[in-house]
Amino acid sequence: MDLVFATHNKNKMKEIKALLPHYINLLSLDDIGCNEEIPETSDTIEGNAVLKAEYVKHRYGYDVFADDTGLEVEALAGAPGVFSARYAGEAKSDQANMQKLLREMKNINNRSARFKTVIALNLNDQQNLFVGTCQGTILEEARGNQGFGYDPVFQPEGHTKTFAEMSLSEKSELSHRAKALRGLISYLSK
Ligand code: IMP
Repeated sequence: MDLVFATHNKNKMKEIKALLPHYINLLSLDDIGCNEEIPETSDTIEGNAVLKAEYVKHRYGYDVFADDTGLEVEALAGAPGVFSARYAGEAKSDQANMQKLLREMKNINNRSARFKTVIALNLNDQQNLFVGTCQGTILEEARGNQGFGYDPVFQPEGHTKTFAEMSLSEKSELSHRAKALRGLISYLSK
């Protein structure tokens, strides 16, 4: 069974391929000849996951799933949220995004935040959403050099390390993306 994961990211592909049931032939956007940037014009994380999945389904005809992730900071009214990738501008720089977040959070006592991943699956003319969240706090300075994105300033609840101080397998035990993925995998395995 062919199933497209709407991403160009080879690391994400590898990670997910290893977890899916073996009868699923996972294809990337490159594998189906989709080289364009899929527009992410929604103002919600759910909306962007749905847009990406529907774009592939309608233009290429494949069954597909797409993910979208955002960091929602309580004291910033949920920002950067759906704009997490381009918080500090269209260059989508992880470093610049993190520095902007630390500036915005200067002198703010409420450091509570959560990551949220939504996966939209279009399979057999049905759509399902799988959501995973991870609650935590935003530190005052970056710690650790593993992971990516906002990992060095995010400390998950109940832990003393940031995501960037954890190994990939430690992070995968509790991350928002892993939780959403578990929902997808259990659905596909049925
Ligand atoms: P995307 O939806 O996976 O493209 O992610 C949107 C934004 O959130 C990008 O700026 C990513 O760097 C950031 N992001 C996504 N997942 C994580 C994560 O697990 N840790 C830290 N940052 C992340």
